[in-house]
Amino acid sequence: MGKVSKLKLAVLVSGGGSNLQAIIDACNASDYPAEIVLVFSNQLDAGGLERGRKAGIRSEAISHKGYPGGREAYDTAVSALIEESGADLVVLAGYLRLVSESFVNRWKDRLINIHPSLLPSFKGLHVHQAALDAGVKFAGCTVHYVVPEVDSGPIIAQAVVPVLPGDDAGKLAQRILKQEHRIYPQVIRWIAEGRVSVDDKGIVTVADAKPAEFAEINPAIEPA
Ligand code: GRF
Repeated sequence: MGKVSKLKLAVLVSGGGSNLQAIIDACNASDYPAEIVLVFSNQLDAGGLERGRKAGIRSEAISHKGYPGGREAYDTAVSALIEESGADLVVLAGYLRLVSESFVNRWKDRLINIHPSLLPSFKGLHVHQAALDAGVKFAGCTVHYVVPEVDSGPIIAQAVVPVLPGDDAGKLAQRILKQEHRIYPQVIRWIAEGRVSVDDKGIVTVADAKPAEFAEINPAIEPA
């Protein structure tokens, strides 16, 4: 039997890259249907670059600071790099930089992001504190297709965590991050298996997914 080709990923990071690591770990399983062909960062010292290099993945950075020609020119250079890598899917994993509309259009339907809130609530930055300030009792994370409007776009999967008494932004972020590491590799698997579709209203369906796979409260609230 011939070797089945895997979905090729470009993973874009700006920071520590714990989500990148979760994807690297998933890709290490021989039956995982995707592989990372490029790690890219806009930060020359991003921890994620080190994780990529350690895993033997091509890992490159271009600083956006003072890039000649501004955001459009920068994003054109990033797109060229991604194209050259042969990636099929662009995965934003803590890429703390707004991407231009032309970048979004260039990678339309092949660009996903993870955001640490239950969208459409709490877009933007400092979302854990915003959730605590709003007094919500559940928080979570969302994987979605990227559209020009920030933290919008068809929702592919969410995981829900409880907000617990005594939480601060750091504790809540850790609880959510654990779920990010679970759902991001899962979503990439679904896409690689060709199971994700979006209707004309922007509603995503995952073929043959069990309800608990794409909407789960985790962990269940334990009695005190
Ligand atoms: C994650 O919380 C992600 O949802 C957000 O940025 C953070 C990145 O963390 N977009 P890491 O670099 O993957 O550890």
